[in-house]
Amino acid sequence: MDLMELLLTRRSVRKYTGERIDSQKLDLILKAGLSAASGRNRKPWELVVVSDREVLERLSHCRDGAARMLKDAGCAVLVFADMDRTDVWTEDCSIVMSNMHLMAASLGLGSCWIQGRLRMAESGETTDAFCRRLLSVPEGFALEAILSLGVPAEFPAPHAMDGLPVDKIHRESW
Ligand SMILES: Cc1cc2nc3c(=O)[nH]c(=O)nc-3n(C[C@H](O)[C@H](O)[C@H](O)COP(=O)(O)O)c2cc1C
Repeated sequence: MDLMELLLTRRSVRKYTGERIDSQKLDLILKAGLSAASGRNRKPWELVVVSDREVLERLSHCRDGAARMLKDAGCAVLVFADMDRTDVWTEDCSIVMSNMHLMAASLGLGSCWIQGRLRMAESGETTDAFCRRLLSVPEGFALEAILSLGVPAEFPAPHAMDGLPVDKIHRESW
C-alpha cells in the first residue's frame, strides 16, 4: 500500500472483536510512535500500554461516553508528556498518536484517537487526573490522548480522493 492509499484507508474504528493484539504488531505500532519527530528532538512523551481487560473497562469511563470502545479493545496506548521538557508537548504527542494510528491501519488493526487533554471523565474529574490516578503516573506528566486498538469488527469505507475538502487550500494568499 502506498502512503496516499494508507492515508485514505485510515479511519477511526470504534468496534472491536475483543481479541488480543498480536504482540509483534503491537511492537511495531509502539515503535512507529517512538519514531515521531519532536520539537528540538526533546521526545517528551511516555507511553503506557494497557491490555488488562479489567483496567480497560475502568478506562472506558475516562470520558463521558467518548471512550466506550475501550471495553472491547485489545489494548490501549496512553500518551503522556513531561511538560517541563518542552513547550510543544501537545504537538509532539499528537505526532506520536498519528504515527501509531496509521501504523495500526497499515497492519489491518482498528484504532481510534480518544482525546485526553481538556476533557472530563464520567467521575467529574478531568480525564487527565482520572488516568493518572488509575495508572500511577508521576507528577509533572500530562495526558495528551489515548489510542484504542483492536481487531476490527466494523470496516468504515476509505476516504475518497475526490471527496477531500480541496477548497481549504489557499494558494499564494487566502
Ligand atoms: C484530536 C482528536 C480528538 C479525537 N477525539 C475523539 C474521541 O474522544 N472519541 C472518539 O470516538 N473519536 C475521537 N476522534 C476521532 C474523530 O472523531 C475522527 O477522526 C473524525 O470523526 C474523522 O473520522 P475518521 O478518523 O474516520 O476519518 C478524535 C480525533 C482527533 C484527531
